[in-house]
Amino acid sequence: MATPHIGANKGDIAKTVLMPGDPLRAKFIADNYLTDVVMFNQVRNMFGYTGYYKGKKISVMGSGMGMPSMGIYSYELFKEYDVDKIIRIGSCGALIPDLNLFDIVLTSASYSDSSYAYVQNKEKSNILKPSQLLNDHIEKIANEEGIKLVKGNIYSTDVFYKEEMKFDDIVDKHKCIATEMESFALFHNANVFNKQAACILTVSDSLVTKASTTSEQREKAFLDMIELALKAV
Ligand code: HPA
Repeated sequence: MATPHIGANKGDIAKTVLMPGDPLRAKFIADNYLTDVVMFNQVRNMFGYTGYYKGKKISVMGSGMGMPSMGIYSYELFKEYDVDKIIRIGSCGALIPDLNLFDIVLTSASYSDSSYAYVQNKEKSNILKPSQLLNDHIEKIANEEGIKLVKGNIYSTDVFYKEEMKFDDIVDKHKCIATEMESFALFHNANVFNKQAACILTVSDSLVTKASTTSEQREKAFLDMIELALKAV
């Protein structure tokens, strides 16, 4: 039975879903890493695929940009499709000088000034955590694979273009090392349904040095992260 935004039947989607922001990244992962792939969603071109990675059933679907979009898709996946785990694989902007382009970040906690969680169910906390179990597992695989991970808090924001691009408070008070726009909604929905979520990010730009990457470069940096997420599931 389809939901308003996902045109799949129950059973079409695996228990674990990887979610890049860009649906074409989801297609890339399905085309290059999975076998026996079946597309389960193309509503609004938010492509979703189920296939097998080393014999394990896994799904991959775009989340779109921002918390409203991630909020809708992760809610429906957890509630209507019995998904147990969602790992976001996205990009982030560095907020500290020590974080370099292409570094891979494992989100320890997501801080946000978004109203998403409060509006959803009156949740007052503005710091939400991923599943420690999932994070520990991702870290273990990264160690085994020799992939360097930077662990830290992430500032999950509703606004990409701010009048004042100042992040001093967010860095000092909330210990955020980078910013993105989806993890807070994902972690909230995982909490609502007592499910597991994690968020792995590659640094695509720096709000400190203003350095940025081309979409081609981002594609390559993305491969390490994809492989880490696939191996972790
Ligand atoms: N801001 C918010 N989200 C992002 C950024 C950024 O600078 N870079 C990648 N995702």
